[in-house]
Amino acid sequence: MFPDIYLNAIENYVSNKSLKSLSDSFKKLSQGYRTLNNSELGSSKEDVEAYLVGRLPVTWSVLTHLLRQISLYLPEHFSVLDYGSGPGTALLALDHLFESKRFSYLGLEAKKPMLNAAEALNESLNLKGTFKQHDVNKEGLQKATLAIVSYLLNELPQQEHFFNHLLNQHEFILLIEPGTPDGYSRLMNLRNKAMASNWHILAPCPHAKSCPLVHPDWCHFYVRVQRNKLLKDIKGGSMGYEDEKFSYLFLSRTLYENHRGVVIKKPDVYPYKVELEVCSFSGQIEKKEILKKEKELFKKAKKTDWGDFI
Ligand SMILES: C[S@@+](CC[C@H](N)C(=O)[O-])C[C@H]1O[C@@H](n2cnc3c(N)ncnc32)[C@H](O)[C@@H]1O
Repeated sequence: MFPDIYLNAIENYVSNKSLKSLSDSFKKLSQGYRTLNNSELGSSKEDVEAYLVGRLPVTWSVLTHLLRQISLYLPEHFSVLDYGSGPGTALLALDHLFESKRFSYLGLEAKKPMLNAAEALNESLNLKGTFKQHDVNKEGLQKATLAIVSYLLNELPQQEHFFNHLLNQHEFILLIEPGTPDGYSRLMNLRNKAMASNWHILAPCPHAKSCPLVHPDWCHFYVRVQRNKLLKDIKGGSMGYEDEKFSYLFLSRTLYENHRGVVIKKPDVYPYKVELEVCSFSGQIEKKEILKKEKELFKKAKKTDWGDFI
C-alpha cells in the first residue's frame, strides 16, 4: 500500500488544483503514453502533477516490489544512480525499504518541471536524495553500485549510446519497462548487449540462453496496486485496485549462481491440482503439475504467484 506520508506530500504539492483539472491532465498524459507521443511528456507542470497523482503510486509499487526482491544482492552500503528519475519515484521506494544511512541516491532528470517536483518531495519528506538536471545521453557521470532505469527507455529515441554508457559503469542495473510486447523487446535488445559485454542476468531469467518465449507471448509480470481515494477519483471507476503489468531485467557484473525457475504466468489453481508454467534453469519453459496428494508441495504451490522464484 502506498504510504500515507508520501500521499500527503503529493496532495500538498497539487493542492491548488481541482480534481477535475487533475483528472483532465491525467487523461491527456495517458493518451500521450498510449500513442507513444511521449518525448514532450513531463514538460509542463500539468503533466507532472498528473504523473504524481496517477502514475507515481503505481510505478512506486513496481519499484518497491523489485527492489525488495533484489535487495539480497545489495551490499551493506550502496549508491544509486537513477536515470530519468522523474519525480524521484525510486527514492521513495528506497526510503520505504531501507534505512537512509544504507544508501546514497542521485536522480538524473532532463525536464525542469519534473526536477522541481522531485526536489520539492525530497525536501518536504526530509529525504537525503540529490537531483541533477541531466540528459542521460550525455557522458560525465559517476559510477554507482546500482543503476535504476525505470520507465525511461520508451522515451529515448536513440538508445545505443545510452546502453554502452550504462554497461561501462555500475555493479548492478535494474531496468523496468511497461509489461507490453514493446517494453519486452526493448529489454531483450539490452539483454543481448549486456551478455555480449559479459554481464550476467540475475532476474527474471534463470539462464543465459535465448528467451524461450515466442511471439505472441512475451515475458512480463504484475503487481497489484491498491488504489487510494485520489487515484480512484482521477481515474474514475470504483475498483479498489489495479494490476500493473511490467517487464524487467536485473543485471550484474558478477555471476551469482541461481538455479531457481521463475513462474511466468498466473498459476491455474484447482481443488485437486496446481498448474505452473515455469521458465527454468535449462532455458526451457516447463509445465509443472502439483497434485493434492503431494501434500506439502501442493500447499506451497497454492501460495505461489506469477513472478515467484521456485
Ligand atoms: C515515465 S517517467 C519515469 C519516472 C520514474 N523513473 C518512474 O519510474 O516513475 C520518464 C522520465 O524520464 C525523463 N527523461 C526522458 N528522456 C530523458 C533523458 N534523455 N535524460 C534524462 N531524463 C529523461 C522524463 O522527463 C521523465 O521524467
